[in-house]
Amino acid sequence: MVNELESEILRLKQEKGAMIFAHHYQIDEVKAIADHVGDSLEMARIAADSEADILVICGVSFMAETAKILSPSKTVLLPNLGAGCPMADMVTADDVRKAKEADPGLKVVCYVNSSAEVKAESDICCTSSNALKVVSNLEAERILFVPDQNLGGYVSKQCPEREIAVWRGFCPTHHRVESLDVARTMAKYPNAYLMVHPECRPEVLDYADFVGSTSQIINRCRTIEAQTIVIGTEVGVISTIRRENPGKEIVLLDDVMVCPNMKKTTLEDVYRVLRDGTNAIEVDENIREKAFGAIDAMLKVR
Ligand code: 13P
Ligand code: SF4
Repeated sequence: MVNELESEILRLKQEKGAMIFAHHYQIDEVKAIADHVGDSLEMARIAADSEADILVICGVSFMAETAKILSPSKTVLLPNLGAGCPMADMVTADDVRKAKEADPGLKVVCYVNSSAEVKAESDICCTSSNALKVVSNLEAERILFVPDQNLGGYVSKQCPEREIAVWRGFCPTHHRVESLDVARTMAKYPNAYLMVHPECRPEVLDYADFVGSTSQIINRCRTIEAQTIVIGTEVGVISTIRRENPGKEIVLLDDVMVCPNMKKTTLEDVYRVLRDGTNAIEVDENIREKAFGAIDAMLKVR
């Protein structure tokens, strides 16, 4: 049932011509009032194509920045300004500049989980759902992949012919799970199908039956036969997968897979920014134009 706060949000959204986007890791109440729930790539694509004047991005700051980079004339609101991504902070624009100065033959692929400044210094962006395609299509003597060591390592393993250096960043939520944790869970569910996000450690990826982005995992669950599925990504996807697959047993790989930043956004935050127009994200135009080049190059890879 729609409560008072939810109906106020829906009313304000209509009145102001806003659209609400939520990442799969958001809390259920926030996902329930969103126009679109998706992974990073879907959020970037749909926000870029949207006709709304105001985009409310329920996720972490790099997602709102990405929307602003793609749609500079729109107002982009991040309901909770404290929602950041620790992995995105593990590489700086200066780090990327220095690496390029040291090797002019280097092309830089940046995971979308990065700041606008890092994107501005990179040749092309990628998300967890298209990283392999982006790297395979890139013409470069050598590649530097920033900031995620696990996604970078995963891509590098699939493209042995490419020379890829990988930055040492990581996602605290995914990197925390070790192979012993996987062994413990899989011993409890020996016939389960294991699906994991590529931000997990390589030894965890080696165990998996399927590696993919949040949306790829959710989509795959709809088509596989297995009765028990173990999910190795942030807990937020579990309610969606359970709802869509009522006859199946859906298990979270490890209880520690919670991203505190993705849980910061509340319905009250969404209501407040819609009502007051606060928390608008701005990106310096110089940086935005360059970062746009990296994101646009990614969006052209199909
Ligand atoms: P997706 O690209 O799967 O949406 O992942 C984003 C993210 O932050 C994962 O931790
Ligand atoms: Fe960043 Fe990890 Fe949270 Fe994704 S789950 S937003 S990579 S800290």
